[in-house]
Amino acid sequence: MSRVYVFDHPLIQHKITFIRDKNTGTKDFRELVDEVATLMAYEITRDMPLEETVIETPVAPCRSRVLAGKKVGLIPILRAGLGMVEGILKLIPAAKVGHIGLYRDPHTLKPVEYFAKLPTDIQERDLIVIDPMLATGGSAAAAITALKQRGAKSLKLMCLVAAPEGIELVQKEHPDVDIFVAAVDDCLNDHGYIVPGLGDAGDRLFGTK
Ligand code: PRP
Ligand code: URA
Repeated sequence: MSRVYVFDHPLIQHKITFIRDKNTGTKDFRELVDEVATLMAYEITRDMPLEETVIETPVAPCRSRVLAGKKVGLIPILRAGLGMVEGILKLIPAAKVGHIGLYRDPHTLKPVEYFAKLPTDIQERDLIVIDPMLATGGSAAAAITALKQRGAKSLKLMCLVAAPEGIELVQKEHPDVDIFVAAVDDCLNDHGYIVPGLGDAGDRLFGTK
């Protein structure tokens, strides 16, 4: 069974409150999502392996540590995942970015893939799938399936707000993928929106409603 990590850092929780607020406009919403993505990236990279190296300080030789291990790939789910990319790249600037385009059919709530452009070496990378919302879990589960079909072996999922239903689906379909979120909410409403959630993340990020 995959693990679920809820980031309860005070700065993350503070910013999530303003992201949820319906009175927060597009500019502030976008900036806050970017900031929370950076803070979450700091937490999610906690287990990155290190290796020792020797450098010269201006004073003396020094044994010190640098990142080792596989390279990182960020996979935003279009559209709303785009809002988290720059924030993560601030901490992991060398990460490659692949895109998966999925939308939820408004009637069936099932994800429909319309775009995929990925780094050629995804099988060698630690991939972080990013999307602000994990609602039914259909989009995230489909994106992870699509990545595995193309060779991905190491995957994490990072979301801002999750519904219990979405966590359950991803854990059922992808027990090897750990899930990192800033909040787990109560439930879904009849339209598949997270309650209380933050509304439509894509529309709020891009001002399309
Ligand atoms: C939203 C959100 C997720 C998906 C979550 O995208 O960004 O991708 O819904 O819902 P699920 O867990 O029930 O699949 P949406 O389909 O609204 O597309 P958009 O990002 O282009 O607005
Ligand atoms: N997609 C969103 O953008 N918000 C939700 O609450 C559910 C799915």
